[in-house]
Amino acid sequence: TEATTEEAKVLRVGTSADYAPFEYVDTAVSDEIIGFDIDLANIVAERLGYKLEFTNSDFNSLIPGLQADKFDFVIAGMTPTKDRDEVVDFSIPYYETEQYLVSPKESNIASLEDLKGKVVGA
Ligand code: ARG
Repeated sequence: TEATTEEAKVLRVGTSADYAPFEYVDTAVSDEIIGFDIDLANIVAERLGYKLEFTNSDFNSLIPGLQADKFDFVIAGMTPTKDRDEVVDFSIPYYETEQYLVSPKESNIASLEDLKGKVVGA
């Protein structure tokens, strides 16, 4: 059938869902792994015609998992180090930023703590 021939190929993805907001589980909402990395990987995969199957693993078992062919790739907010670079390939960086909370001049709001009493409900 058409559905069969056009079925998306599945890639096995390793992550460690203990690193909000990049990959985490919000158990109050569901058991799903969510976050920036998950969304980014899904968007790219969808454009390339792949489906992703995420596996939640201890961060230190992600590279061994790649080496053992348990994963096709890992997305876990991982930074290159000399040791890692010797055993796996890193992409170009997908997240480099310097972002701040912005408040009106003279508001004395420098952090979320400072919002206490200044915002309805805070
Ligand atoms: N960027 C740091 C590293 O590569 C921490 C990454 C932690 N990621 C995670 N999903 N727990 O070592």
